Amino acid sequence: MAVTFRLSDTPDEPIETRGATPEENVSYWKQLHESNAYFDTHNWYQDRLRFFGLDQISRILDPKQDDTLLEIGCGYGRLLWHLAPLVKNAIGLDLAQAPLTEAESLLESRGSVELHLGDGVTLNPIKDESITAAYAFTVFQHMARSVALANAREVARVLAPSGRFLLQLHVGDGSEDVMATPGEQSVGYTAAQAAGLIEDAGLRVERVERELLLKDYPAGNVAWWWVLATKHEASSSG
Ligand SMILES: C[S@@+](CC[C@H](N)C(=O)[O-])C[C@H]1O[C@@H](n2cnc3c(N)ncnc32)[C@H](O)[C@@H]1O
Repeated sequence: MAVTFRLSDTPDEPIETRGATPEENVSYWKQLHESNAYFDTHNWYQDRLRFFGLDQISRILDPKQDDTLLEIGCGYGRLLWHLAPLVKNAIGLDLAQAPLTEAESLLESRGSVELHLGDGVTLNPIKDESITAAYAFTVFQHMARSVALANAREVARVLAPSGRFLLQLHVGDGSEDVMATPGEQSVGYTAAQAAGLIEDAGLRVERVERELLLKDYPAGNVAWWWVLATKHEASSSG
């Protein structure tokens, strides 16, 4: 099912390339970066090093000095700028080259950082069981459910035993593939769906937190799940 997507700052220009297939998801994001300069036009990223999301990632994922840390959908490297100096190795993956080019220069002196261009569905450049901590922030919420599951299964493949994965998702009633949120549209998850996504990927849910985004959405109509998962010894990438 193709869906119509609008950015708040381009209200008269619906973008209809995002949909349920991996190809549509990928081409949607490429279009946002290449034609719409997503990060240059989006309010949230005008402060290029904005702390947004960092407190939850630091508290719940708790990156450590000996971690190899992966960010899926790293964009131009805003979060890795803060986190890379705290860990042994940091890896950023995104499906578009434009933000990765910006990340290369932003992260130049921020410790050991690798950047990879992904295909949006697999984490192919990343080796099996090579990651001890991974996270995705404001990324899976924009994926069709099938794409989110494919990516979560890849997380299970690349995580080392006992590795941690922190996933942020949009809270929703789960009845629709796309829910309206101010500015952008996202896929909404119930708590059970969020946990189900992790379990279907072969990971174990350790903790689920709900955050109401009152600062950015004072009407109280937007909330996120923060799901912490681990790869236990018996987990399979399967
Ligand atoms: C809303 S931005 C968030 C960027 C970054 N996480 C941050 O908080 O600054 C979403 C990013 O995820 C990337 N992305 C979307 N779907 C992806 C996928 N399937 N695989 C890898 N990256 C993806 C987009 O290209 C974009 O750079």
